[in-house]
Amino acid sequence: MSTDATSSGTPGDTLGLSAVQARNALLEEQILKNPKQFRVLTGDRPTGRLHLGHYFGTLHNRVRLQNLGVEMFVIIADYQVLTDRDVADNLTEHVENLVLDYLAVGVDPARSTIFTHSAVPALNQLMLPFLSLVSVSELNRNPTVKDEIAHSRQSAVSGLMFTYPVHQAADILFCKGNLVPVGQDQLPHLEITRTIARRFNDRYGNSTAVFPEPDALLSSAPLLLGTDGTKMSKSRGNAILLSADADETARLLKGAKTDAERHITYDPANRPEVSSLLLLAALCQNRPPEAVAAEIGSAGAAALKRTVTESVNEYLAPIRALRAEYAEDRGYLRQTLREGNERARAVADATLAEVRAAMNSVY
Ligand code: TRP
Repeated sequence: MSTDATSSGTPGDTLGLSAVQARNALLEEQILKNPKQFRVLTGDRPTGRLHLGHYFGTLHNRVRLQNLGVEMFVIIADYQVLTDRDVADNLTEHVENLVLDYLAVGVDPARSTIFTHSAVPALNQLMLPFLSLVSVSELNRNPTVKDEIAHSRQSAVSGLMFTYPVHQAADILFCKGNLVPVGQDQLPHLEITRTIARRFNDRYGNSTAVFPEPDALLSSAPLLLGTDGTKMSKSRGNAILLSADADETARLLKGAKTDAERHITYDPANRPEVSSLLLLAALCQNRPPEAVAAEIGSAGAAALKRTVTESVNEYLAPIRALRAEYAEDRGYLRQTLREGNERARAVADATLAEVRAAMNSVY
């Protein structure tokens, strides 16, 4: 067995990374052929504003799927914020900022449902039967949860931290989502979701499947590094926010870590910082990073940073303009959420009614 944590998934995993990747190609074909057979569920924790890592890692892909005609639910996972902290600070502000980020990048509330955990009681109620379908040792083995516990800011592990992958299964299954665009770290959660769907159907389905076994759809964009050369992350202060202005972006990129070699080449293994900057410019310019590198050649890191800054600012200009426009209209933001929550509630109520009927608990 592989010792590489990223390639093995959870023990007992029927769908390891290579299987997921192989299946991705097939799914992409089916999406193009018949987008209506899919329902996407995806989302974020409201802990801060979204950055370029989120954008090229997932937001871009969500909007692509939406525009191909795939139905989409976007969850703002407010209860999930409480996994690694005692109190969810500035929740309203974070939730509204997420809605702004979504709208600015092109999530269209007429086609996609944006909603929050806490506003959809029936979704949360699914957690109870779902918890009965997994064992404590299965929960204990989840590598992503283990990692989060190791980095948690709390001294004790809460029951929510331990069980949130089951809650995430409810996020996905309440709307019978069958396609979940995620990063690799979320694959163990997808595996638990599939297990729960399968066990529920086996135990209560009476030969009809109540839940689909959802597929993960991995992003094809490689990981972007932050300006300090480590993973781009809200909490590390190394991220370029979608909401940052052009000057802030220039300042951040000016201070970005590079290396001592003057000649610029795309070489992710040996020159991770320079290569990540090239990749960022390349994604914004929609051409290969090697081409960006060749153009800069011996002009050095300062020229590289100038190119990246210009590319990012140019790419984000329309997104930032839209974001600023929406930010002026708080009433519209609130209304978007209200309507999304209402739609999610109707879907969750219908699913819970089915679940109660299957479990013989209609009184
Ligand atoms: N765990 C995800 C993250 O940290 C957020 C999330 C919550 C999610 N519920 C989900 C993602 C359901 C996909 C499906 O980014």
